[in-house]
Amino acid sequence: MKPVLVVDFGAQYAQLIARRVREAHAYSEIVPATIGAAEVARRSPAAIILSGGPRSVYETPAPSLDPAIYDLGIPILGICYGAQLMARQLGGEVARTGAGEYGRTEVTRVGDTVLLEGWPDASTCWMSHGDAITRAPEGFAVTAATREAPVAAMENPARGLYATQFHPEVAHTERGQEMIAHFVHHVAGVAPTWTSASIIDEQVGAIRARVGEDAVLCALSGGVDSAVAAALVTKAVGRQLTCVFVDTGLMREGEGEQIEATFTRQFGVPLVHVRAQDRFFAALAGVSDPEAKRKIIGELFIREFETVARELTADGHGPRFLVQGTLYPDVIESGSGHAATIKSHHNVGGLPEDLSFELIEPLRALFKDEVRRVGEELGLPEEIVWRQPFPGPGLAVRVIGEVTPERVAIVRRADAVVSDEITRAGLYRELWQSFAVLPALRTVGVMGDGRTYAYPIIIRAVTSDDAMTADWARLPYDVVERIANRLVREVEGVNRVALDVTSKPPGTIEWE
Ligand code: XMP
Repeated sequence: MKPVLVVDFGAQYAQLIARRVREAHAYSEIVPATIGAAEVARRSPAAIILSGGPRSVYETPAPSLDPAIYDLGIPILGICYGAQLMARQLGGEVARTGAGEYGRTEVTRVGDTVLLEGWPDASTCWMSHGDAITRAPEGFAVTAATREAPVAAMENPARGLYATQFHPEVAHTERGQEMIAHFVHHVAGVAPTWTSASIIDEQVGAIRARVGEDAVLCALSGGVDSAVAAALVTKAVGRQLTCVFVDTGLMREGEGEQIEATFTRQFGVPLVHVRAQDRFFAALAGVSDPEAKRKIIGELFIREFETVARELTADGHGPRFLVQGTLYPDVIESGSGHAATIKSHHNVGGLPEDLSFELIEPLRALFKDEVRRVGEELGLPEEIVWRQPFPGPGLAVRVIGEVTPERVAIVRRADAVVSDEITRAGLYRELWQSFAVLPALRTVGVMGDGRTYAYPIIIRAVTSDDAMTADWARLPYDVVERIANRLVREVEGVNRVALDVTSKPPGTIEWE
């Protein structure tokens, strides 16, 4: 499938555009702005999109584009910074007008246009720019304008070049997604064939061809990525896959049972369920420093996994491959586009040399939302597919201070109550994460006739796109009230509830 290449002038913008192209059922790849025309030609893309970015075309050095790319005959759409760059490189004018636009802006369509075909005369778009294109290059028609941007869109259909100052990838641009789909399907002529079913078919074929008759190993964490990766490999090679689930005692309520039920009973995969709770609690006894806790858990996890891997490989006929749930954002962030960045606590890169596996990473081209859709298509239960992200060290980073079985039991029960009420309120999928934190202090309360001296629970709920930044969620007060009542009533050892109203930055999402 020919990709739509998204040229990266600012990572957040590029990823969002790449996801929007995927939503239009076309395959997209992100490439660095330093890419040359020869490399673009070699990849033979169906179209190119130049992303927005935080810079001004006047900065030196401002990121640029090899101008020979404009002459390859490949349809190009420039967005925001990408539009200004196109204008400037092809002989138009970009000026510091001093009147930028930020946020919702009314855009007026001008004359005939290929890109904005079917748009009403006026609609709402999302703007975020200081400089503005003041004159389109020769051969270009201006197709939209706003109050402060005389060239809000321009196009030269004969050369296949299009540009918008506004951000079509942002939901606030009314017709944005429609415009991206129109560009991909009708301007670039890409058929909408990138679907969960086609992703599964392609991966299943590739895994079968690579694995042959060999055995494969996969560590399940309870999270959606490892579960979907394992389900894909199962569909490809069935019982040649063995899954390992190390129960650290720090998982969410019902997580272990859910995994066992899904992989053993539903998929019929051999599952090694390591009940390592006691060893984890023993290793964590007396430790309260957050980094020390993380390190202990990460290292012990690898040791436990290694023990199973050694047993399975003892006769020399053990697994040759190891499944990793690496996603596309990990691949992009690792820079080269090739390096396998292995996530912290599943860092089986920490395994000793003599236990070297070849990696299978069936999700490395996918974004999280695609992983979820593939998971659904593969028949994974909703609870796994839609589970909110969970840190590798588990509940240990939500029990402030020393991690004991008793304190973990409190936070686990509290977490289940929070999840349950958030789900009932229909908010679970909307929130990036919502959970309970147990601080290392106790407070005085009164219950019935007696005085209590027990733990408070902190409710933490955030919205986010990628966990890099997050906003505290404005939960409805009646939901907060129900959670608070249930926490005090149902979770023994809790007598008070607080709500965390810190965004990230300055806070982090987790408390440790
Ligand atoms: P913070 O707390 O840094 O977390 O805002 C950002 C996101 O990462 C998750 N997180 C972790 N995930 N190992 C992980 O695999 C870790 O040690 C870890 N610490 C935090 C956190 O849940 C949030 O989604």
